[in-house]
Formats: sequence, C-alpha cells, structure tokens
Amino acid sequence: MKLIRAKDYKDMSRKAANFLSAQVILKENSVLGLATGGTAEGIYEQLVEWYRKGDIDFSSVSTINLDEYVGLDGTNEQSYRYFMNYHLFSQINVKEKNCHLPNGMADNIDEECARYDRLIEKLGGIDMQLLGIGENGHIGFNEPDEAFEQMTHCINLKEGTIEANSRYFATREDVPKRAITMGIKAIMQAKAIVLCASGAKKADILQKVLYGPVTPEVPGSVLQMHPRLIVVADEEALGK
Ligand code: F6R
Repeated sequence: MKLIRAKDYKDMSRKAANFLSAQVILKENSVLGLATGGTAEGIYEQLVEWYRKGDIDFSSVSTINLDEYVGLDGTNEQSYRYFMNYHLFSQINVKEKNCHLPNGMADNIDEECARYDRLIEKLGGIDMQLLGIGENGHIGFNEPDEAFEQMTHCINLKEGTIEANSRYFATREDVPKRAITMGIKAIMQAKAIVLCASGAKKADILQKVLYGPVTPEVPGSVLQMHPRLIVVADEEALGK
C-alpha cells in the first residue's frame, strides 16, 4: 500500500486526479473504474480543469462506474448516471458510448448484474479504480455482510447508508432502498486502486479499513490484499 497524505479536500482531490491523469497519459485507452459521491466531486472538477487546459485527452478512455440506484433513470438528478454526466462526462471528450453504469431501470435486475460483469470482462478489466469509502466501510455499495459478494449484485442499502445519502434527496423517504453494485471481484481485479478519503467523519473507518482485520463486516478492509493500492487521504481522515 502506498499512502499519500493530503492537506485537505482540495489537496486530496488534486493528488488523486494526478493518478487518474497519469493513468490516461500512460495508456490512452484506459478503463477507469469510477465512483460517485462527495469524495469524487473535487477529483472530477480537477480533471475537467486539466482537460480544458489541454492536458488530458479522454477520447479513447472507457469508464465503468461502481454502482447505481434501482428505480432511478439517468434523467433523475439523484441517479448516479446524472451525477457522472453532470460532473464529468458532459465536460470532457470521453465518448458517451464508452461511459458505463449499471442500468437501475432494467426490467430484470439479475440479468442486468450478469450483463455488467460480462461488460467488465469484455473491456478487459479495470486499469485504475477510484474508490471512496462509506462510513460503515462499504466500497461501491458492497455493504457490511457475512461474506464478500464477488459478482455484481443488487443490495438492500443499510439504514446508515440511506441516512448518509439522504443529504442529496428532498426527504429520507425518497432515497432508493436498493442499488446495483459491482462486486468485490471486479474491484480487486483492477490493476490499480486509488482509495480516497477526506474529513474527520472518515477517520474511524479509514483506520479500520487500512489497519484492522480483513473482514466482510468492513468491506473496504479487503483492499489491504490488493497489490497496487494507493490511498489518498487528508489530515482529518488520517486523524486516527
Ligand atoms: C459511490 C460509491 C460509494 C461512495 C461512498 C463514500 O459510487 O461507490 O461507495 O464512495 O459512499 O461517499 P462520499 O464520497 O459521498 O462520502
């Protein structure tokens, strides 16, 4: 594991964006595994800034996101497809056909999960996976459980996750209760992982993820086994 200490959120965003940018410069047709959420926003903002300056070319890049809510389509402002379009895809020259998220509106969710795993395989796996960490240790929406779930699957979100995500919705009741998430296998098979964390709220869990026992009760702890894990965290998140 390589631990990169950042001063604050802005510094974390810039440092993490540097890794993604270097990945695309080194391999033009990289497959980037992407995340949504507050942690990722600043990273995308930075990438967009560098793209506008002419420093990065995304025209051959493919992206594959970790997760999507069940029941929200891409026009819904709370969907992860909308988030990605808004914060990144519409602002850079990545091709729309190369930007993949699970389809939360699929009639057959099981088939959609299987399709997503086939897609990751067809793309040749993920070159670099960006991850945030949930306060309960989730990565993607792999929630604490008795076993690591390998493949893309549909999950019932935990109360704490619904609570944390309710900040983006008008009411708590509006937060979808289910989501499709990439499984632990595809994440762990990524050639490199950039795990990012910012703020004191992430300090406890980051300590458990990086230094606690590897257990499905703290899904992110599995990352300790990854041969090329880069952690970019700010001072507050590293407070423990
Ligand atoms: C979202 C995702 C989640 C988030 C995590 C942290 O695509 O995969 O695992 O990374 O919930 O969320 P923030 O960054 O909002 O604290």
